[in-house]
Amino acid sequence: MTLATIEFKGLTKDYGKNIAVKNLSAEVFPGRVTGFLGPNGAGKSTALRCLLGLVTPTSGNSTINSSKYHDLVDPYLHVGAVLDSRGFHPGLTARQNLKVMAAASGVDKKRIEEVIEMVDLKDAIDKRTKKYSLGMKQRLSLATALLGNPEVMVLDEPANGLDPIGIVWLRQFLKSLAKEGKTILVSSHQLTEMQNTVDDVLIIHKGELVASGNVDAVCAGRSLEQTFLDLTSKAV
Ligand SMILES: Nc1ncnc2c1ncn2[C@@H]1O[C@H](COP(=O)(O)OP(=O)(O)OP(=O)(O)O)[C@@H](O)[C@H]1O
Ligand SMILES: [Mg+2]
Repeated sequence: MTLATIEFKGLTKDYGKNIAVKNLSAEVFPGRVTGFLGPNGAGKSTALRCLLGLVTPTSGNSTINSSKYHDLVDPYLHVGAVLDSRGFHPGLTARQNLKVMAAASGVDKKRIEEVIEMVDLKDAIDKRTKKYSLGMKQRLSLATALLGNPEVMVLDEPANGLDPIGIVWLRQFLKSLAKEGKTILVSSHQLTEMQNTVDDVLIIHKGELVASGNVDAVCAGRSLEQTFLDLTSKAV
């Protein structure tokens, strides 16, 4: 049996009376793309931030390779994350931004050219990132996440701002990373695209898990969009 690389174990996060994530227990497996789906405000980003040690849960926990994020030795080598694409120094070029990050995480500079090539940004590598479009920033975020060649990728709406060619590219890219054996957990609102991309899904609604598992089994003959609407229009 394949062991899960990401586990949420009774994860709960409340902000005062607002329960953003409610007793979330779920597993994410290697070699598969897992879609993390839910309406606006469902708790996806909060759960991903807890997983990455950026938000402290109220109770429960989440692990990567059985360790809490903060307990991972050299986390960059194990998990790459795209949370938003605003974290770059605008006055620096993509190459310079990646150099800073590579140095901070002890990654060899040679890897910079490789990741830039992987995300198709070679022509813009020496352009200041303030001149980057949203889609270019998303690609650069992916490049950053790939610096340490991690086995786990956590991506919060990476398709945001990508053009149709970029979206098809991202689909192939995520599938190819999973084929290498990596664990890909990706949130998105683009359900038709997700149906063509993911192997498994986790669907949350008002902080609670409402479906999980193989996408075909969860959909049971319906489209992913219809399945999502059926599951998330119910009151919890
Ligand atoms: N820092 C915070 N302080 C207070 N409330 C927060 C904070 N972050 C998130 N929330 C609340 O937690 C809930 C879940 O938000 P979250 O951003 O996790 O949802 P999401 O599923 O990522 O939504 P979206 O699809 O819009 O990105 C929302 O009600 C939100 O208002
Ligand atoms: Mg979000």
